[in-house]
Amino acid sequence: MKSMLMHSFVLDALATTGPDTFSHFEELVNEHRDICMEAANDNNSNNQQQPRQSRLKRLVPTVGVFHTPLPLRRAYEAYNAKYKLDKRRHLAISFNEIRHILNLAQIMAFCTACSMGNEAENEQFNLRLLESPALRPRGTGGDVSKIPNFCLDDFDKATKNATTVTETDAPGKFNGPSMITFDGDQTLYSDGANFESNPKLATYLYLLLRNGVTVAVVTAAGYEYQTHKYELRLSGLLQFFQDKQPLLTEEQLNRFYLFGGECNYLLRLGKDYKLHPVKEFGAGGWMTATKYLGLDSPANWPENDVTRLLDLAEESLKGSLREQNLKAKFIRKKRSVGLVPEGGSSPPIPREALDETVLRVSDHLDTSLRSTSERSPVIPYCAFNGGRDVWVDVGNKRVGVQILQSYLDVPAAETLHIGDQFLNTGNDYAARQTCPCIWITSPDETTYVLKSILRLAGIAPLQHLAAHERDDSMGLDGLSLRTEATCRISNVDFTELERRTSAVATMDVYTGELLPPVVPPSKPTPAATASDAK
Ligand code: IMP
Ligand code: MG
Repeated sequence: MKSMLMHSFVLDALATTGPDTFSHFEELVNEHRDICMEAANDNNSNNQQQPRQSRLKRLVPTVGVFHTPLPLRRAYEAYNAKYKLDKRRHLAISFNEIRHILNLAQIMAFCTACSMGNEAENEQFNLRLLESPALRPRGTGGDVSKIPNFCLDDFDKATKNATTVTETDAPGKFNGPSMITFDGDQTLYSDGANFESNPKLATYLYLLLRNGVTVAVVTAAGYEYQTHKYELRLSGLLQFFQDKQPLLTEEQLNRFYLFGGECNYLLRLGKDYKLHPVKEFGAGGWMTATKYLGLDSPANWPENDVTRLLDLAEESLKGSLREQNLKAKFIRKKRSVGLVPEGGSSPPIPREALDETVLRVSDHLDTSLRSTSERSPVIPYCAFNGGRDVWVDVGNKRVGVQILQSYLDVPAAETLHIGDQFLNTGNDYAARQTCPCIWITSPDETTYVLKSILRLAGIAPLQHLAAHERDDSMGLDGLSLRTEATCRISNVDFTELERRTSAVATMDVYTGELLPPVVPPSKPTPAATASDAK
């Protein structure tokens, strides 16, 4: 995409060619979707003909599945209206900007029946709409008058004009995704940290639950069914749900899930604000309900295969540790093995060493498992660079999200996964196969994405925030502004301070080992000071 836009940039013509170029991308995506659908139908009808290859597939051989059309032109226009990319003379559109535009298009794709602007604006907008191939009504299904207007610039105005859906306990269908799955580390909280005080993000998650959306954290962090360890990582969010008025109903709380170890341990939030294991077997058990998925359900994994996979991964990780002279320690759990920093004051493991270790272990597993079991299928696994560590998990996020879709009966096109690891050495990458995805780089971007989803669904998210939290300067690029905004606000959250200081223990997020609380150094008594002085 970046290279196709270079041409317009070099010729100084982005202002005239930009929107049409994005329309062209939409056409390529539509063509690719049609051909994928044809291929799927042919497979079902055992048609032996060679499938057609899309132009997009020829340009980008690794291109995946598009679960929805993408209104890329509209997204580009909204983004450009705010950031004026077409006025730049020296700096071409960047990878990050293209990521933002794709994210925006994906958010818009979910909302097809709300209107955010005034009537004149909508009319203008609807005229231009026809230039966006993804939004052109296909067949009799699409209703152009119901496609959202979206402007990144004027949040307050949009909020005033929004057909505000005041959240109710029996809401209509949410005009957005039915289920949003979230990665944990670096998406809801910083890498290795916990969900502590983040009222904005917590409010948006609360609003999703209030409006009928299923929310699930699908994280690689696996502590078996030791629920208090996951609760510790989400403690600020669970506390927020407990304090926020009006309280969430039991049905709303029950729509919050956590899948630990990628797809191994499924938990659900109860009315006591605690996480409870979801029954695995028997009537209504999630493993029983997904047995039909074959090796795509942990219900069918032979224990011997799990052990062999972990043995091979262990061999490779330990080889990397030795040969690359890494300052790291090896961990083995029931469903994963990992290399993590030694801790204390030891330096972080360099990114190059992490990537080398991932590629090496992937290669080792691919060759060993696929050559020995030639025809028999292999259980799913995921080798990834977590930013500070390397892990091989049995299972992956494709399996995790797919199980939720199947167990909760949510179609792929109504599911959205939000995560930070979408390089081919990351663990969110696998989710692309089963649902639309949004690639963020920090919890601040997740917050922004949720605000946009809520707004497009007709809910005014800012009205639910305390005045000092309403700062809207944080755009998709607004992290520096955000820092400035945070500096301006010096409110001390005493409840949060209290909650943190009274927590009984902290936890090693890698092993799940509980550590004794850090006792603040006490002031020396006058007697001790006197004796020290002697
Ligand atoms: P995610 O980003 O929420 O998927 O979490 C990934 C991070 O979880 C890794 O980078 C690790 O720091 C941490 N983690 C803790 N336990 C495990 C495990 O058993 N497997 C993989 N990652 C783990
Ligand atoms: Mg992550």
